[in-house]
Amino acid sequence: MKTIIVYMSRHGCTEKAVKILAEHLGKDISVKNLKNENAPDIDGYDTVIIGGSIHAGQIQTEIRRFCQRNMEKLLKKKTGLFVCCMETGKTAEDQFNNAFPEELRNHATEKGMFGGEFDFAKMSAFEKRIIEKVANITESISLLDRTAIKDFAGKFR
Ligand SMILES: Cc1cc2nc3c(=O)[nH]c(=O)nc-3n(C[C@H](O)[C@H](O)[C@H](O)COP(=O)(O)O)c2cc1C
Repeated sequence: MKTIIVYMSRHGCTEKAVKILAEHLGKDISVKNLKNENAPDIDGYDTVIIGGSIHAGQIQTEIRRFCQRNMEKLLKKKTGLFVCCMETGKTAEDQFNNAFPEELRNHATEKGMFGGEFDFAKMSAFEKRIIEKVANITESISLLDRTAIKDFAGKFR
């Protein structure tokens, strides 16, 4: 069973989540970061896991595009979808639903919401101002949900 994780991360939180996920999944895992690598050909994989992070309510455009372009193939494979974000509950769920096409969500074996991090050291001055204003947070904080990542991985082992 060959597995690939395709993801995108702005400040490294999703990257961290992917590392944890890959460790739980064990051997024979390919990982592609669409930020600095071309979109992979998924023909040789049985399982495709796709994830990104939410900014201003949206997942990365490259992740959206990857899902759209590969939809036909993805619907024939075991698929997992996840997001990293700081919202919780209904808002996080709405963001997740907005991030991935309905057809793919219905097909997916597992849907993950892994929490997120505000990393002030990596934010631009503009981003810091937004987070301070909108979330009323002025210091770095991690709400990365390692249990959710482990449980998600359990569905693909
Ligand atoms: C400018 C900015 C906007 C954000 N907007 C949202 C948002 O609309 N909803 C949300 O749940 N989280 C939001 N977040 C939190 C990110 O989803 C969180 O920081 C996530 O862990 C980022 O992952 P990454 O470092 O892999 O990109 C925002 C963060 C920043 C810095």
